[in-house]
Amino acid sequence: MLGSVFGWFFYLFDPLANLAIPPIQPQARLRPENNVPVAAEGPWEDIITGHYGVPPLIRIHDRDGIVKWKFERDDVQQDLPKEIRNCLYSSANDATELKWMRNGTAVAAIYSSLALIINHTPDNPETDKLITWAICRDNEVLWNAHTLEPLPGDRMAVGTTGQRPWDGVLVYNTSEALPLDPSPPILQNVTGLRAIHGLIWDEAGSMLWAAGTDLAADGSDPEPARGTIHAYPFDEATGLLHADDAYVYRLDEPVRQDVEWGVGFTWWVGLHDLVPVPNQRKFLVSEDSSLHAFDITTGRFTEHHGAVVDKYMPGFRVTTNDRHGVDGDGVLQEQPLGDLKSFSLAPDGSFIYVQSLWQKYRGNHTSLVENGVYRAINEGLEIYRSRWFGDIDGWPKPR
Ligand SMILES: *[C@@H]1O[C@H](CO)[C@@H](O)[C@H](O)[C@H]1NC(C)=O
Ligand SMILES: *[C@@H]1O[C@H](CO)[C@@H](O)[C@H](O)[C@H]1NC(C)=O
Ligand SMILES: *[C@@H]1O[C@H](CO)[C@@H](O)[C@H](O)[C@H]1NC(C)=O
Ligand SMILES: *[C@@H]1O[C@H](CO)[C@@H](O)[C@H](O)[C@H]1NC(C)=O
Repeated sequence: MLGSVFGWFFYLFDPLANLAIPPIQPQARLRPENNVPVAAEGPWEDIITGHYGVPPLIRIHDRDGIVKWKFERDDVQQDLPKEIRNCLYSSANDATELKWMRNGTAVAAIYSSLALIINHTPDNPETDKLITWAICRDNEVLWNAHTLEPLPGDRMAVGTTGQRPWDGVLVYNTSEALPLDPSPPILQNVTGLRAIHGLIWDEAGSMLWAAGTDLAADGSDPEPARGTIHAYPFDEATGLLHADDAYVYRLDEPVRQDVEWGVGFTWWVGLHDLVPVPNQRKFLVSEDSSLHAFDITTGRFTEHHGAVVDKYMPGFRVTTNDRHGVDGDGVLQEQPLGDLKSFSLAPDGSFIYVQSLWQKYRGNHTSLVENGVYRAINEGLEIYRSRWFGDIDGWPKPR
């Protein structure tokens, strides 16, 4: 009773109500007194990039773009269930997501019409490029899935990236002991967050964070949609995520996507990538039109737009000079920070990003900034995402 009275007290005095949220305790193994080191990986040479095309291509390359390892469907020699093979050999050009996992011995990806896990064991050709888990996306639930993220206990969270109230996160068992199954059972179905484009496991807080919109991003709901970050605490005893409204953080204003796509375009600005800042309890988040920083401890968005670049991404450079258009009020707007479909910060201060071309869905290179100096790599490829291929310090993937 008292608790709820105090809850309301905070609601009255703080419109964001974030002070009412209980502080998140770091997991035992990450508490400073337990002296468990978080690996300082490095030297941050390896980058994983998805190249759109038929077939799509995944590459691991260095900072000069020199390819060390690649995956395309013709590399798959193993026997696959027919449905999985059909989804691998679909006409989809998607190389939408690609992530380091299992200490670098595997890649989680959205590739062609599949969400999958591929072995990355270049020193062992016997196991390299084996598909150890896959799910077909050629259905009304997963066709637009844009991202996935490993959870503890061989679980995998997949964002459905849809506009309906029942869109959200689906959790699957990716244990290598299970046979490949094109439609595996769902361990958990967490509904409510639309248009999910980013998922990040938070080992210190023991929660999954997701970036999407609170309502339909395509404008099909009567109310406007706002960019929204949602955290789902993970219960180690039950292995389930909790959908708790206390951990919902919305951007203040809904914004139409009219500057880029023209007046009358129904879509609302939504979130693209959710990026942990190495060794800090902070996220940067990109959206169609700009960038924001979010502080986990206070539950607040702390910097916006150019202030994010000044503080966290010095040396950022807009990739083409045509990123402007007229908004609904007829005012010319520049959007140099918009459309970072992916970006990724290394602990040494280097960062990479992929900014889609203006009025396009993908970029045509990866941008790399080292010591404040910009250069383009992977030029001429059609790219949605590039990420550091490593365990980001302070943000270890689950073991
Ligand atoms: C992770 O991989 C690195 C090198 O790639 C290796 O040195 C380390 O022992 C591995 N850690 C575990 C827990 O397997
Ligand atoms: C998830 O749950 C919602 C709400 O119960 C339901 O409408 C939807 O069909 C479920 N999704 C799947 C893939 O089972
Ligand atoms: C996943 O499958 C493995 C192999 O059958 C099993 O041991 C494990 O308990 C399953 N995990 C969950 C969360 O169901
Ligand atoms: C990438 O796109 C920009 C803008 O359309 C264009 O000027 C540039 O030539 C393209 N670069 C390559 C390598 O295709």
